[in-house]
Amino acid sequence: MWILLILIAILCVLIATIIKSGRENYGIIESGNIPVVPPSLFLGSETKLHKEVQHLEDVKRFKKYGGIWGTYLGKSPQVHIADPDLIRLIFVKDFQYFSNRQDIDFGTPVMNEILDYLPGEKWKTVRSLLSPLFTTSKLKNMSDVIASSAQEFIQDLKSEAEKNNGRVKIDCRNRLTAWLIDMFSQTVLGVRMENSKNPNNEFVEAFREMMGENTQFNLLYTLSLTFPFFTRFAPMFNHEPTKLIESAFKQVMENRKKSGSTNSKDFVDLLNSLMEKVDTPEFQNLSITEGTILSQAVNFFLGGYETSGTTLSHLLLELATHPEVQDNLKSELDKMLDRFDGKICHESISDTEMPYALCVLKESLRLAPPLLRPERICTQDWRHPESGVSIKKGTIVMIAAWAANRNPKYWPNPDKFWPERWESAENLNPYAFTTFGHGPRNCIGTRFAYESLKLFLCNLVKEFRVEVRPDTQLNYKMGSTLLVAFDPLYVDLVLRN
Ligand code: HEM
Ligand SMILES: *[C@@H]1O[C@H](CO)[C@@H](O)[C@H](O)[C@H]1NC(C)=O
Ligand SMILES: *[C@@H]1O[C@H](CO)[C@@H](O)[C@H](O)[C@H]1NC(C)=O
Repeated sequence: MWILLILIAILCVLIATIIKSGRENYGIIESGNIPVVPPSLFLGSETKLHKEVQHLEDVKRFKKYGGIWGTYLGKSPQVHIADPDLIRLIFVKDFQYFSNRQDIDFGTPVMNEILDYLPGEKWKTVRSLLSPLFTTSKLKNMSDVIASSAQEFIQDLKSEAEKNNGRVKIDCRNRLTAWLIDMFSQTVLGVRMENSKNPNNEFVEAFREMMGENTQFNLLYTLSLTFPFFTRFAPMFNHEPTKLIESAFKQVMENRKKSGSTNSKDFVDLLNSLMEKVDTPEFQNLSITEGTILSQAVNFFLGGYETSGTTLSHLLLELATHPEVQDNLKSELDKMLDRFDGKICHESISDTEMPYALCVLKESLRLAPPLLRPERICTQDWRHPESGVSIKKGTIVMIAAWAANRNPKYWPNPDKFWPERWESAENLNPYAFTTFGHGPRNCIGTRFAYESLKLFLCNLVKEFRVEVRPDTQLNYKMGSTLLVAFDPLYVDLVLRN
């Protein structure tokens, strides 16, 4: 009898402790005058995370709450912003309060050292060391390589189509990410991986596995947000494939060093010169190791191929459903090709030569930002007297990119794909477009991204029309909070004439 009572008492204490621990941060966001998505008893606001498409939830919440709202993701207090003034304040003006991203353990050393998540001084140092890789003159030098890679990819699709009555069906993400990984191998590392033309080659598969492309976000994942203990049953990233990637990258860099040669059209020489500084006090102080530097090479792939693949998949769908946009693009392209002897290159795809192509790209990037929620963590309590809003240290602040980019105040008829809206974009609020983030920690590869997207688009439009198929359908996956994820999206590429 006593034993039973004691057991019941222990059970009650245990349950109370679990509930108390789950609720320990409740109230923090509300105290800063921010409306909150009502939290559950002890699992936070997002108990249906794995049953909802997160970026579409953001759009709904923006309509309901306005430009700022809070959620408890498990225990973690998160503030979501979609208002351009707040974005400017938090991401730019008061950057010193919000200079880091959250400290995530990806479970793999390579991922844990990528620039995106490095803290404070270490981030600042690594970012400035990498900046020479992203200057105009460097991009200009690399553009040839991107251009020939894009052209070759389109030519391969063309030969496929020629064997098949002038038409080829593609799974957008699958084909595009395979090409992008090949393109990044050539531009970042200056090499081609084995079997680069096979969209499912070993290297491509390793990246897909590493990024957890087939991850299903289930109840265990949602639980792990409150109780990290569950993470081991629902890991987001995979460690195993990173070994192949790491050793391949290392090999390439060492070979370059041994050969004594240089190549101004890739990133290897600069990365190797950083490798030589790991024994200096400056690097040791910040624990910048060979691993850190190797991670940055991997980071350029990760930062670039998923995002660009998602952008191009959406772009292909928009083109397929807007034939008039394809016609406009084709006529702009034809005129440009006349002026440039048929050459698609850095000079001929510039914004002055191809202004409409740029509008098309930007409109596609506006409607479907691949990174759902560019984020910062608040490292010092922050107050904004004008609005009465305050944010506590430890809170994660995220731009709800899908919502911000659809703010009807800045984007009339926001869901409409309408490239012409960018033609009069001079007086646009720059913080109403959030696809590449903002401030000192924005996307370092923005111009690289535009260059490669434009080179792809021009080569595509030159040879193909894009058409919808009976099975064309864009189905977003539920539960992803980092990157837009979707089921296979099929379109037809149809040879012109
Ligand atoms: C369509 C293509 C791309 C999109 C939409 C995109 C988007 C973004 C966004 C939203 C961020 C976070 C910015 C912030 O928090 O303010 C970011 C960061 C970053 N991106 Fe990109 N990106 C793209 C392509 C690339 C490419 C091609 C590279 C490299 C070659 C790259 C490298 C990076 C890196 C290294 C960071 C971390 C920067 C830091 O923390 O200092 N991205 N990107
Ligand atoms: C670009 O290429 C030229 C000619 O090969 C070279 O002199 C220059 O240093 C390169 N620029 C960069 C930033 O790599
Ligand atoms: C290393 O860090 C210490 C304090 O953290 C600082 O005093 C010193 O100047 C640093 N050394 C270098 C070479 O940056």
